[in-house]
Amino acid sequence: MSLIIYDDDTPIGFFAYGIVSNCYVIANLMINKNDQRKGYGTRAMKTLISKIKKDKGHDKIYLGVNEHNAVAIRLYQKLGFRFDGVSHFVIDEAGGTSTDVCRMVLEY
Ligand SMILES: CC(C)(COP(=O)(O)OP(=O)(O)OC[C@H]1O[C@@H](n2cnc3c(N)ncnc32)[C@H](O)[C@@H]1OP(=O)(O)O)[C@@H](O)C(=O)NCCC(=O)NCCS
Repeated sequence: MSLIIYDDDTPIGFFAYGIVSNCYVIANLMINKNDQRKGYGTRAMKTLISKIKKDKGHDKIYLGVNEHNAVAIRLYQKLGFRFDGVSHFVIDEAGGTSTDVCRMVLEY
């Protein structure tokens, strides 16, 4: 499910979440360039994590982050996520395009 992040009535970002293989996954957190460093990303993640934690039928939240994205990694670590290996995504099998991302997990 994709969610838009608002500041009052103004959309300033988005992210997505869902259940994959019986675990929650948060993806594509993005805050508008002009609205970054104002705490929106942290607040949006905290709100979504609180909502997910109410689901006692699951106990893990996964996300993927580029190893060079120090800002996002620090944000996720502050929220309790820890590194959990590497995920290999094939984007375009015919073209041979693929990428590795750091997998992080929050157990609750
Ligand atoms: C990563 C991202 C979502 C963070 O959102 P944000 O609203 O800017 O984050 P916050 O304002 O909550 O800041 C979180 C921390 O990162 C720091 N930070 C944010 N942007 C920063 C920057 N450009 N350089 C250095 N530090 C930065 C903040 O100072 C804050 O640190 P603190 O907790 O020690 O005070 C945002 O930068 C973004 O959209 N980036 C591009 C897309 C992206 O990389 N998404 C992540 C995909 S996994």
